[in-house]
Amino acid sequence: MIEFIDVYKTFEHKGVDRVIALNRINVQIEEGEFVTVIGTNGSGKSTFLNAIAGKFLCDSGSILLDDKDVTRSWEYKRASIIGRVFQNPFTGTSPDLSIMENIRIAELRGLKRGLSGGLSAKNRQRYQETLKSLEMGLENRLDATVGLLSGGQRQALTLLMATLRKPRILLLDEHTAALDPKAAEQIVKLTRRLVDESQLTTVMVTHSMSQALDLGTRILMMHKGKIIGDIKGDERKRTKVRDLLNRFSELRKEELLDDELISMLQEGYY
Ligand SMILES: Nc1ncnc2c1ncn2[C@@H]1O[C@H](COP(=O)(O)OP(=O)(O)O)[C@@H](O)[C@H]1O
Ligand SMILES: [Mg+2]
Repeated sequence: MIEFIDVYKTFEHKGVDRVIALNRINVQIEEGEFVTVIGTNGSGKSTFLNAIAGKFLCDSGSILLDDKDVTRSWEYKRASIIGRVFQNPFTGTSPDLSIMENIRIAELRGLKRGLSGGLSAKNRQRYQETLKSLEMGLENRLDATVGLLSGGQRQALTLLMATLRKPRILLLDEHTAALDPKAAEQIVKLTRRLVDESQLTTVMVTHSMSQALDLGTRILMMHKGKIIGDIKGDERKRTKVRDLLNRFSELRKEELLDDELISMLQEGYY
């Protein structure tokens, strides 16, 4: 479903050498796999997702999605097969529109139909049932403006909207990181259910090693633009947070660790 062949991407930074964000990435993700991605800050996790989504074209290498070579095709051309949720709960929904209008927009994405026709009683009831399944207390607030919702409610709605049309690929970039622990837990639960229900091919970046183990079927570990670990199958089942920590600590032997990683390890951040 997703294939990277020698993908290389650099960014220009004023006054310094170009930053290598993806350093010859080779990876193949099969249909229905749920991959979690962990790594230090700046290791290229978001760039990896953005390369899949086509936010930029890569310097070299090839990207195949759903058996098509999309290496030279831009974001809007790939959008029809991709659902995305970002860290910031304020992206992904329109704050001035109602919950119902937002869902309707997600449902009509890519179709040539107007918004007004769909706000019927029948759709109302259907949306109400869908919202109830989120367990976020949104089912009786169809006409509420989305800007009034809490971060957790808004992220739940964004997740629902991103998966409504069953995208071929779902990309989640630290989508629980900005939420309080209780809301984050609810979103994790919802993510698991929505992905399971539709058997979505999913790539999720997370800061939390326990979340990376809790969700998904395969873990990619990134460091300095490279995939330094690919844990799946039986090994994945046996892996504990401790093992992931050890894998990152091993980098210490090969090179000086970023201050960032050292402080994360000390604080037990993961
Ligand atoms: N749009 C951009 N412009 C310039 N540099 C970028 C851009 N996006 C990412 N980078 C750089 O690429 C590297 C990887 O960034 P990113 O993928 O966001 O890391 P992560 O998500 O793992 O924290 C970092 O050094 C970052 O500064
Ligand atoms: Mg990131």
